[in-house]
Amino acid sequence: MKVVKSYEMKEIDRYTIEEIGIPGIVLMENAAMSVVSETIQLLKESNKVVICCGTGNNGGDGFAIGRILSCNNIKVSIIIIGDSGKIKGDAKINYDIARQLNIDIHEFNDERQMDELKNIVSDCDVIYDAIFGTGLCREVTGKYLEAIKIINRANAYRIAIDIPSGVNADDGQILGNSVCADKTVTFCLPKVGLLLYPGANYVGDLVVADIGIPNISIDRINSHTTIMDDNLARYFMPNRVKMSHKGSYGKVLVIAGTSKMTGAAVLTSLSAYRTGAGLVKTFIEESVSSVVTTKVPEAVVETYSRANNNISNEDKEKLLEMLGWADTIAIGPGLGNDNITRKILEIVISNFNKTVVVDADGINALSKDKEILNNRKCEIIVTPHLGEMSRLTDYDIGEITNNTIKVAVELSRTYKITCVLKSARTIISSPNGMVNINIYGNSGMATAGSGDVLTGIIVSLLGQGLNASDAAILGVYIHSKAGDKAKDDKGEHGLIANDIICNIPYVIKSSLN
Ligand code: APR
Repeated sequence: MKVVKSYEMKEIDRYTIEEIGIPGIVLMENAAMSVVSETIQLLKESNKVVICCGTGNNGGDGFAIGRILSCNNIKVSIIIIGDSGKIKGDAKINYDIARQLNIDIHEFNDERQMDELKNIVSDCDVIYDAIFGTGLCREVTGKYLEAIKIINRANAYRIAIDIPSGVNADDGQILGNSVCADKTVTFCLPKVGLLLYPGANYVGDLVVADIGIPNISIDRINSHTTIMDDNLARYFMPNRVKMSHKGSYGKVLVIAGTSKMTGAAVLTSLSAYRTGAGLVKTFIEESVSSVVTTKVPEAVVETYSRANNNISNEDKEKLLEMLGWADTIAIGPGLGNDNITRKILEIVISNFNKTVVVDADGINALSKDKEILNNRKCEIIVTPHLGEMSRLTDYDIGEITNNTIKVAVELSRTYKITCVLKSARTIISSPNGMVNINIYGNSGMATAGSGDVLTGIIVSLLGQGLNASDAAILGVYIHSKAGDKAKDDKGEHGLIANDIICNIPYVIKSSLN
């Protein structure tokens, strides 16, 4: 599904109204009707409903909602934050209708009137927030800020119209303060700011409502941002065919694990199998290889020596032979932050001609020497967390956190690689500028080894024939859905990486149904 910024939504609206000829007032009516139908159940038990309206079109939606509710015998008070003299266009039409119907309307144009506002909302059950929509363009101050604080303190269910007032629709930043909604009904398409943190914390349950905008208006917008949903996941999922053998589902090489972090090799290899890989070969330091043999008996284990902080000629030959065998490679989980990792990475990148997933210590090695990328034969997916991304770029973690999309896109464009920037909202960016925002997953997945599992899933999908970008997007989806399933079972506190692995097959199975 496409995700849009405010200027893209504005263009969709403009085209629909001016070129197709559907009047704006019709779209406003549809928007209001859709909010009412999405929230009508909540109103059954409520005695008093307050609708807080701004003076823009978001407020116009609010006036229309007020009129529909009032006509359905629901007790409604409309609060205007701002100067009603500024209301114009379709919003004015709905404002005038509300006045003609003698709906209870109050105007607050001054911070000093806020005690009265407090009184009005004090005994209401539901508040609709229609102060600002996608038109919010600067810090919220004065009467707006006070109104938002009062709305947030009220003991009522809060429903945001299109977007909570205070959230920047384009990047999810909070402009001063924001209404903290229990539910947000957004129109036509999700806005980027609803999905990214911190904005996502203020959205509550998100509903995307159809307001009658034709597909043709949406299709002509060249949005670079998408989200994955269950239908798309089914479409991306690799097929199994009756007449096949293990070679049909990918020969995956995992280069991971050292004596300190042997488990990383286990988690990556096992995840690759659980996602459907036909054959997984694990290349690991000799002294700890028996751990992989024991924990993943299905894996073929090849060993090498890390003596003398270098890789021997004999081991190099072995590695080159495996590069000829493999359909795809994952390199880095628990591999060690040393010269041998750098050497192995260099051999892989300069000799292998398919796709490589570079994770963890592989990324650390790349950060120290990006020149390695200049001499590459393969396509690359990197899967950094925020700390690794900071090492890979010149940005500090704070800058990356506030600009995840921008930083990921920059990295992808500069080095022509696919980037999976892992955080509470993982961003997948492709060299062509396309971005996918992952909206699934939970805090239980912030646990050691979780990233190793993701690497195993992505490399497995590559082995089954998906291209870099599709494997990264579907991989992140499977990983976070498996984490959500584990959370349903066990909660977030005790969730460990192995729980994610156990749920991979069920996620894949249910998404195929
Ligand atoms: N403080 C005060 N006024 C502000 C601020 C701010 N921080 N930010 C924006 N404004 C003003 C703008 O100058 C403009 O007058 O608020 C108005 C924008 O209001 P919106 O209703 O958010 O924007 P608008 O473009 O009119 O409508 C978009 O309409 O299609 C509906 O709900 C849908 O979100 C969508 C909305």
